[in-house]
Amino acid sequence: MERKFIVTEDGSKTLFLEEWGETYHSKFGALQEANFVFIQNGLDLFRAQSVSVLEIGFGTGLNAFVTLKQALEKGLKIEYTGVEAYPLTEAENKELNYVEASGWKELEADFNKILQCAWEEKVEINPLFTVEKQQKTFDTIVDEGLYDLIYFDAFGYQYQPELWSVDQFKKMYTALKPQGILVTYACRGVIKRAMQEAGFTTEKLPGPPGKREMLRATKNVI
Ligand SMILES: C[S@@+](CC[C@H](N)C(=O)[O-])C[C@H]1O[C@@H](n2cnc3c(N)ncnc32)[C@H](O)[C@@H]1O
Repeated sequence: MERKFIVTEDGSKTLFLEEWGETYHSKFGALQEANFVFIQNGLDLFRAQSVSVLEIGFGTGLNAFVTLKQALEKGLKIEYTGVEAYPLTEAENKELNYVEASGWKELEADFNKILQCAWEEKVEINPLFTVEKQQKTFDTIVDEGLYDLIYFDAFGYQYQPELWSVDQFKKMYTALKPQGILVTYACRGVIKRAMQEAGFTTEKLPGPPGKREMLRATKNVI
């Protein structure tokens, strides 16, 4: 599908799919949304010294970028797995402006390493951040009890309803450790019910600027 970059309201870029009219992140601010949904309402909940993260839809690497920032700022050890079926090209990676838009100049070298490193290999970006990018479709994920936190960042329900299904959330539930958390920008009732049917306890939370609500789901097992 044809995709092109747009500049969102906080100055950070994101990709736009012309055919669907869908963006990779919020038009109201890609960087702002990533920080709000995945860091403030996800990663910030963890008190442990090390957190393993699974990202559903690695895309532009923006969520990995904001996670890297937290790792370095808080001395948190992150094992980051990003699943993506349709990676950006090298030319697209070069157009990303997250370092400039955030002002986090100190992350430039490490973020470039994340974008350029090999797929299907665990790569140490720095002593606090390890990444493994896996090129495959979400339905092929068969991990069990590996992750503390899932960033569920698929395209919207109206475009890919099959990715917001009970079956897909069961895979996510299985992939999480006990008490693991899944966060997503979406908040539709049908999504919340699919999460609950898969076994999750769900919470509706206030959304980032421009979006009313978002969801957090917890694997509550003893
Ligand atoms: C909303 S975008 C993710 C944005 C991304 N987290 C970022 O920071 O740029 C959804 C991503 O899921 C990927 N995708 C869509 N369908 C997929 C599938 N069935 N399996 C794996 N990846 C898929 C798309 O290529 C896209 O990168």
